[in-house]
Amino acid sequence: MSIDDHQERRTKILATLGPATDDPAVMEKIIRAGVNCVRLNFSHGTHEQHQKRIELVRETAKKLNVIVGVLGDLQGPKIRIARFKDGKINLKPGDFFVLDSALDSDAGTQTEVGIDYKELPHDVIADDILLLNDGLITLIVKKIDASRVICEVVQGGELSNHKGINKKGGGLTAKALTDKDRDDLIFAVKMDVDYLAISFPRNAQDIHEAQNLIRLAKGTCGVIAKIERVEAVAAIDEIIVASDGVMVARGDLAVEIGDAEVPMVQKHIIQRARSLDKPVIVATQMMESMIHNSVPTRAEVSDVANAVLDNADVVMCSAETAAGEFPVETIEAMDRVCRVVEKQPQTQQSKHRVECKFTRVDEAIAMATIYTANHFDVRAVVALTESGATPLWMSRIRTGLPIYGLSRFARTLGKMTLYRGVYPIYFDVTKCTRDAVNQKSITILEEKNFLQKNDRVILTKGDHMGRSGGSNAMKIIVVGEVL
Ligand code: PGA
Ligand code: MN
Repeated sequence: MSIDDHQERRTKILATLGPATDDPAVMEKIIRAGVNCVRLNFSHGTHEQHQKRIELVRETAKKLNVIVGVLGDLQGPKIRIARFKDGKINLKPGDFFVLDSALDSDAGTQTEVGIDYKELPHDVIADDILLLNDGLITLIVKKIDASRVICEVVQGGELSNHKGINKKGGGLTAKALTDKDRDDLIFAVKMDVDYLAISFPRNAQDIHEAQNLIRLAKGTCGVIAKIERVEAVAAIDEIIVASDGVMVARGDLAVEIGDAEVPMVQKHIIQRARSLDKPVIVATQMMESMIHNSVPTRAEVSDVANAVLDNADVVMCSAETAAGEFPVETIEAMDRVCRVVEKQPQTQQSKHRVECKFTRVDEAIAMATIYTANHFDVRAVVALTESGATPLWMSRIRTGLPIYGLSRFARTLGKMTLYRGVYPIYFDVTKCTRDAVNQKSITILEEKNFLQKNDRVILTKGDHMGRSGGSNAMKIIVVGEVL
């Protein structure tokens, strides 16, 4: 399969990088298998390791002549226990166990452990439920004694160094950006990432704070809000409006709201993001068993399929690609499932927005284009874009047709890697004469075999090419006719 065949898949694949993808041959294989954007998880690894990974992605993408976006993911105030003298312990129901903010970081034993998050004793009261290690271990708070949170074990299990702590129902006061996050943000801007993901934001204010820091660092990346707290679900609309996209971060979200709540909340977040014109990523455990197995479970196949049916823009891999034994097979499996499900008519036609008013010229052009494309014999949509806004609007409406986003800006191309159905292609309009732009755009797509003679396409652009937000024209073109 040629790498350009991935333009047939509309749903995007975001793959977390890690030791399992450090081999250049593996990196090449996962990109060939269909990775659209990569994620650097700043919860693990050093800046040096992340830099090496970013460089490898960029080199490989260049060699394969594809656009691969880069997303940096801040750790956030993940509230963690410190370390045990022996690395790990095993808790049994009925045991008493103390989380002590004053205890030395390495002094954890069978009965107590330190915590990095010093506010914990102020944030909890008796009868609160604390979940450790993504919910595998449940503690009930019995008493607070100064720095010591005294708990009884309800659900036991193995507990090792640095596992996360969540409070059921939310309400831990930790700020969204820690000192480490600020440091990582500067690094991410220096690395020129396309997106920065913010962990555990509570509201739009937390997103604005990150955006201010990015601006101060002279960065231009988009901000993705990870929805993984009770407070964020309640403030979902304002968070979506404030950010450039959201992630349904099911790992921590399930711990905070309860696993059974997650599927419907996931559907709700996808629906709100699409309505508010932003891309949405579904993350965590999508292909979990593939960390050790070469094929997914039936349940995992269904999970990916449902995200596609709900019109998510992106499905994500975490440890499956970062640390798993089968990173390439994982991407192949996701690609395969997305393609089959995308053939369903309900993912291709939309009654969306027939009754709403448009507020901008480029938005009106985008809507008119997709409406026409869905009701006429058209092979593809070609959007000449500066900021990516026109293809983003187009991609909020269901269609089975490819939307080619042609831009001269690396950032715009990188950001479009997460828009469902949009295929970023490098094209510098300022390098050809006004009269030649249409023909040149079509030629690029013919050269990639995306278009054939006699295909009908809709092309959108602005009179003043090179100006952002300026799309004001749609033109119906037949490939091969003299333009
Ligand atoms: P994480 O975020 O992997 O950084 O924790 C994703 C999630 O919580 O699902
Ligand atoms: Mn998380």
